[in-house]
Amino acid sequence: MRRHMLSVSRVLVASGLLCLSFGCQPAAAEKTGLSNSTSVGGLEGSGEGQASISETGAEGDAIVDERVLVVQVQLPSSELTAGIPGDGPLTTAQIQSWIDDPVNHAPVSFELPLGLNKGTGQVHIPEDNLLTKAKIELGRQLYFDTRMSGDGTIACASCHHPDFGYARPDQFGVGIKGQTGNRNSPVSYNRLFSRAQFWDGRADSLETQAKGPIQSPIEHGSNHEDAVRAIAGVEGYQIQFEKIFGSGSLNIDNIARAIASFERVIVTGASGFDYYEQLKPFLDDFNEEDLAELKEEDPEAYAKYEVAKAGAEEHPMSDSAIRGHALFFSEKVGCTACHVGANFTDEKYHNLGIGMDQEKPDLGRFSETNDDKDRGAFKTPTIRNVALSAPYMHDGSQKTLEEVVEWYAKGGHPNSHLSDKIKKIDLTAEDKQDLVDFMHALTGDFPYVEQQRIPE
Ligand code: HEC
Ligand code: HEC
Repeated sequence: MRRHMLSVSRVLVASGLLCLSFGCQPAAAEKTGLSNSTSVGGLEGSGEGQASISETGAEGDAIVDERVLVVQVQLPSSELTAGIPGDGPLTTAQIQSWIDDPVNHAPVSFELPLGLNKGTGQVHIPEDNLLTKAKIELGRQLYFDTRMSGDGTIACASCHHPDFGYARPDQFGVGIKGQTGNRNSPVSYNRLFSRAQFWDGRADSLETQAKGPIQSPIEHGSNHEDAVRAIAGVEGYQIQFEKIFGSGSLNIDNIARAIASFERVIVTGASGFDYYEQLKPFLDDFNEEDLAELKEEDPEAYAKYEVAKAGAEEHPMSDSAIRGHALFFSEKVGCTACHVGANFTDEKYHNLGIGMDQEKPDLGRFSETNDDKDRGAFKTPTIRNVALSAPYMHDGSQKTLEEVVEWYAKGGHPNSHLSDKIKKIDLTAEDKQDLVDFMHALTGDFPYVEQQRIPE
């Protein structure tokens, strides 16, 4: 997996507004004492700049003037997930000095990468759980910490591991004492675009979702009380919860808030597809002559063309992937009837017939809604970076993308609730390979995520 090491960070001194890339809202008063001021004028030019946060003068200004700091990042950003600086085990002293730095409690504002930025309007961050670097870092530690499980062996990462595309290369998730359920581990990146979580959408937020596995007898195999007690027994965690959420705040809801915040910034970078899409309007609408004209008459637009061209050259799609792109978006093949938008999902539930040949099929969304039309329907998964997270489907029954394409070509498995959008598609062997190659071109950069450093 490619890693995205470069990240741009800026600290802005803002008025009492939290400006996310999708608009501004009043900054919630967090327990840092920093965000309480709401009465400073507009954005201060002096606070802007490419300075890295530890060196910026803005930090000092903010303490003196009680201004609201905004940490601005371009996602994917390794800076948010690289862990507290240092090597070896994460010591209490290192945690203390990190947590005492006010910048780590400033609201984080971010820009989404090329392509995914079209989904800006879909981003969901609850008002009572705004992002800060300290909260994201705490969530990172908890995500990798096995101490929340019944026997100290299982963490979120056991089934959603960065090395396996934030999933697990087994048919089913494997929890405590090697137990398995009946569903495949879905990916845990780009989750900030979705409200409903799980294959059947039974959790309404990442916060609600995160509480589930801890008390599942076949996942973490613990309960909330014991998990909280285990975390509260670690001094480094006590210090962080106290400073981030306030005193007496080490509870399951705040554990879930921290984990959800970490997950929200696991956003993947632009893929070959996104660079191709950026260039495509120019390829479609301009010939050589038009481009020469554009250069003369609209230098700004021409500069955009040059950026798009350079991007596509650096992240090329193969001819086969380009043909697959056309098929994927075509009416004939119709993948975009469901895999649509910035994150390639309509966030809806469909029956493709997966597992419907079983004696007692998993009825998916139906068990949540009891609505007959939801029988055997499962949430459309993102297919960004899908080449990294085999096996596929809610039951992990398909081992390769080739198998997935065969499934669609034959029109799924007939059953009384099969989606009317699923029908037999006439595809040549080349078409099938092109679709697979297109899906490979949906792989982007991932942020670097520290996996080892959790509190002693
Ligand atoms: C034993 C393996 C296992 C462990 C441990 C585990 N998960 Fe999962 N996770 C799964 C499976 C399987 C699903 C799908 C279950 C379903 O849909 O019913 C899932 C679903 C999810 C989803 C929903 C994704 C989507 O597309 O809707 C998220 C997010 C997630 N897990 C995050 C976490 C977090 C955070 C933790 C730790 C607190 C965790 N998981 C622990 C296996 C696991
Ligand atoms: C009717 C809506 C719909 C259409 C059309 C559709 N998909 Fe899907 N796709 C889904 C759903 C729903 C799932 C999960 C189904 C399940 O597990 O039961 C899925 C799963 C997948 C997966 C597996 C992802 C994973 O992480 O397990 C891939 C890959 C995929 N689709 C690619 C495609 C391609 C390629 C096309 C076009 C040939 C296509 N899809 C057309 C809804 C659709």
